[in-house]
Amino acid sequence: MQTHGSESYYVIGEGLLGESIDGRDLGDEPPIVAAAAAAADAADVTPPFRFSRLGPKGVNRQLGEPNRKKVGAAMAVAGGGQSQIPAGFTYLGQFIDHDLTFDKTAVMLGANVTPAELLQGRSPSLDLDSLYGAGPEDPESAKFYEADGIHLKVGKTVGPTKVGFDLPRGAGSTNAQKRKAIIPDPRNDENLAVAQMHCAMIRFHNRVVDTLPASVPQGQRFAKARKRVTKHYQWMIRTDYLPRICAAGVVNDVFNNGRKVFEPGAPAMSVPTMPIEFSVAAFRLGHAMIRARYNWNAVFDNGGGTLGLLFTFSALGGDLGGDTRLASIWIADFRRLFNFGEANKPNLTVPPAKFNRAMRIDTTIVDPLQHLPPKAIGLPGSTPFNDVARNLAFRNLTRAGMLKLATGQQMANFLKNKGVNVTKLTKAQIRNGNNGADLGALTQAQREAFLKNTPLWFYVLREAELNGGKLKGVGARIVAETFHRAMQGSTSSIVNDPSFAPTLGPNSTTFRMVDLLLFAFEGKKALLAPNG
Ligand code: HEM
Repeated sequence: MQTHGSESYYVIGEGLLGESIDGRDLGDEPPIVAAAAAAADAADVTPPFRFSRLGPKGVNRQLGEPNRKKVGAAMAVAGGGQSQIPAGFTYLGQFIDHDLTFDKTAVMLGANVTPAELLQGRSPSLDLDSLYGAGPEDPESAKFYEADGIHLKVGKTVGPTKVGFDLPRGAGSTNAQKRKAIIPDPRNDENLAVAQMHCAMIRFHNRVVDTLPASVPQGQRFAKARKRVTKHYQWMIRTDYLPRICAAGVVNDVFNNGRKVFEPGAPAMSVPTMPIEFSVAAFRLGHAMIRARYNWNAVFDNGGGTLGLLFTFSALGGDLGGDTRLASIWIADFRRLFNFGEANKPNLTVPPAKFNRAMRIDTTIVDPLQHLPPKAIGLPGSTPFNDVARNLAFRNLTRAGMLKLATGQQMANFLKNKGVNVTKLTKAQIRNGNNGADLGALTQAQREAFLKNTPLWFYVLREAELNGGKLKGVGARIVAETFHRAMQGSTSSIVNDPSFAPTLGPNSTTFRMVDLLLFAFEGKKALLAPNG
């Protein structure tokens, strides 16, 4: 079963790194599982996903397990408070992560895949292939589409039935088969918030199709719509999502002046890779944004939408509460997740007390993330509540150890040497932070080791914590460059087509997430918040 997160990383030039974290041995495994890589080569099996290493290896710089356990526990205590970022951006981030790390070849039939497609399909891109699969013409992906091969399938909620508010789900004889989402990337059914985000993106595509001029011939309608959707989505990421999580100066520098460190001279349309420093550390920033409870909608109000319930009412993190379709009372109220006041729609806003803001990007994650649902991470259901393998912070730190990921300090030096203007955090800054994780439980020796060789994920979160909750320095550079490269490597790309200007927002330079939702949901309260 596909669960959230890669279990192993095929790093170009190094082979298959890391092993399942689910086994009991969570210590410092040998970094390169040479035998597995050799076996894959021998069998001429194409490697899974094209990861690469941007910086140096962190040999002899990894924390021991007791240290990781203490840091993991220190991080999973909540603490840093809320940010100004609307909480919907957390799950937009998770959706984007799945788009970036989606292995398209999983939905393609071997015989139909050319070598070029194979390479491209296993590369990071922001092409929305987690929404489109390999397209309606592909036999394995046809099931995601209506019979016309142009619209994406939608699902129905129950009690009362509402069309278009759930993911399309399966048929079959068992309840598990019936509730399985029929979408290219099952990870988008890992929790209700990301699932509702996926539904919104389905709706966005379908509405773009419906608003294409009648003159567009039938045979071109899908391709035209997909291109329009993808470029608007990229525009929104570059101008709305990224500047909310990352220092705007860095985002602008990378998009206006180009990349300095990550595959800097790569020709347009060449196949990109995904730096493990992004995947295993920097972009896990989203874990800090997750709230323990949400004012989800009018029914599950005042914190009634707990993170646990958001898992329960999905089919990968839970079991849809025992049903085979989502109950209508769980449909999202997008007005509580995104601020439509930004688009001058005061009639689509909720009182501040009902609005959900993401947690600040800092070195803390909320307590429920210490106890991830075993099912979502491929662990047996009997895994004890306090098992450390269920702690997301410990998992992230351990994954870095397995890959011998560069430390924060190593990456700061590396970037400086490449001409990037970053200021290295001091030991005092790493130790004290700003109302984030408290390292007081570490022994003197453990703390010394930690301050000298700080795990990259923690380091970029501390940078953000000291910068009002926005990535800067090392974290901002890694994230902005990786996004730029992924857009450059996409078939439809605003990086390769600088003449593109959005047409679905209020003017030719503006297309934000609120504009995407307004377009998708026709600006109607009854669709953005059907539970009132
Ligand atoms: C409730 C929400 C979320 C849950 C439960 C969750 C859980 C997880 C888990 C269990 C992993 C694998 C950990 C391992 O290495 O063993 C993971 C990986 C990852 N997560 Fe999350 N995550 C959530 C939201 C997010 C968000 C909002 C972002 C970014 C904005 C994010 C970014 C990533 C990245 C980049 C990875 C590694 C790449 C991948 O394989 O997908 N996650 N997450």
